[in-house]
Amino acid sequence: MSKVLVYGSGGRDHCLADKYANSQHVDKVFFLPGNPGVLYTPKGKKEMIESVRLSDSNDFNEVARFCTEHNVSLVDVGSENPLSRGLADVLSQQNIPTIGPLKEFARIESDRAFTNFLLSAANVPKPEYRVFFDPVEAADYVKNIGYQVVVKANGLAAGKGALCCDNADDALAAIDDIMVKKVFGDSGNRVVIEQRKYGTEISFFAYLDGKHVLPLKMFCQDYKPAFDPDDHEAIEKFGGNLNTGGTGCYCPHKLVSDSLVNRIIKEIVNPVVNCIYNDYGWNYKGVLYFGLNLDDDNNLEVFEINVRHGDPECEVLMRKLSTDLFELGMAVWEGRLDEIKQVWNQQHYVDLIAMEGRSKASRGWNPGYPKRYGKGHKIEGLDDLEPGLAVYFAGVDTHEERGLVTYGGRVLHLISGDETLEKAREKAYRNIEKIAFVDHNKENASCMRYRKTIGL
Ligand code: GLY
Repeated sequence: MSKVLVYGSGGRDHCLADKYANSQHVDKVFFLPGNPGVLYTPKGKKEMIESVRLSDSNDFNEVARFCTEHNVSLVDVGSENPLSRGLADVLSQQNIPTIGPLKEFARIESDRAFTNFLLSAANVPKPEYRVFFDPVEAADYVKNIGYQVVVKANGLAAGKGALCCDNADDALAAIDDIMVKKVFGDSGNRVVIEQRKYGTEISFFAYLDGKHVLPLKMFCQDYKPAFDPDDHEAIEKFGGNLNTGGTGCYCPHKLVSDSLVNRIIKEIVNPVVNCIYNDYGWNYKGVLYFGLNLDDDNNLEVFEINVRHGDPECEVLMRKLSTDLFELGMAVWEGRLDEIKQVWNQQHYVDLIAMEGRSKASRGWNPGYPKRYGKGHKIEGLDDLEPGLAVYFAGVDTHEERGLVTYGGRVLHLISGDETLEKAREKAYRNIEKIAFVDHNKENASCMRYRKTIGL
């Protein structure tokens, strides 16, 4: 039997840990640094998944040492940040099988201008764009452009760096926030300004092993806006329907068909992978995430590429995938993806994200995610959920008296599966109502919030 280490601490990472723990080849999953929510799940209680604390989990040599000392057979790096700081480089140098690209290749996500360059080289359709280093030049550009734009911080911004603008004033404010106020830090030293596109968003994934590509023939839909489109009160209060890292997801996407999957592979995935392998000569081992838009005229365009699974996309895809993830992961490392058969079950899945909503602060109020949010609210109701649902934890902590408490804006994912999307939705919504985040400063009212239109 083998041991796996999942590097990360969020919902996607918890989900990957759970999926590896289901493998017939795995008897232990180390979750580093993990999160305390794992102890509230059956596999955590059975010590199948164990959160690991190192003196410094950002010291990648220490991570490598842990893997060697504990006979770890495979490391899966869940998020872009450690990849862009070279975790896969350190592990690969020590011959520790790792899923996740080297630092140089993680540029595909950490440098949007480079992504656009790659897409042009691969001749893949994408919206019109320009790159700016100077906020004054960027402002002049959007004043006169005449169509709506998305202003994107060039660097990493935890999935929140793309600001969709309705008009020139919004675009000027976005440039000011990103380039002058530096709300995303140095990631805003440059911006990419792109034509805003309307249509249906598709999140599409592929595994690469340095030689072959395994496009997942199943895709899902993420919901990035913070609020439901008809929640006018919240949208007005927050100054727009703010972008988030994702507020929910469903799978299969209503547009899944063999013909669209084949089209995505032919028009997007293969040209990009061909460029990576043959033009750049990169030995890329890991996941590629294609953020796509399909417009009403049936045009497919790429609006982002990431170097890891999506969050919350991973949570529904992994529930639907019946292939053993450890077998898949080892095939990535050993260049054997051509041997892997992808098998999908027949269920539909819905992921609702329970977020921190409006809560009382010691002085005043926290508006809630994605703006300032409170912490330390006791999470109640998990024991009342119907059997068969998955709960993956993200922003949680433990408190001496309150037990499991909230710690982040996106707190937990509740995933339900059923034979139709409608049944999966009903089950998810029926159950999320059983969960509460107890606002101890406000007569124990619940300050949990979730979107009501996931999967509609
Ligand atoms: N769900 C969007 C992301 O993971 O970036």
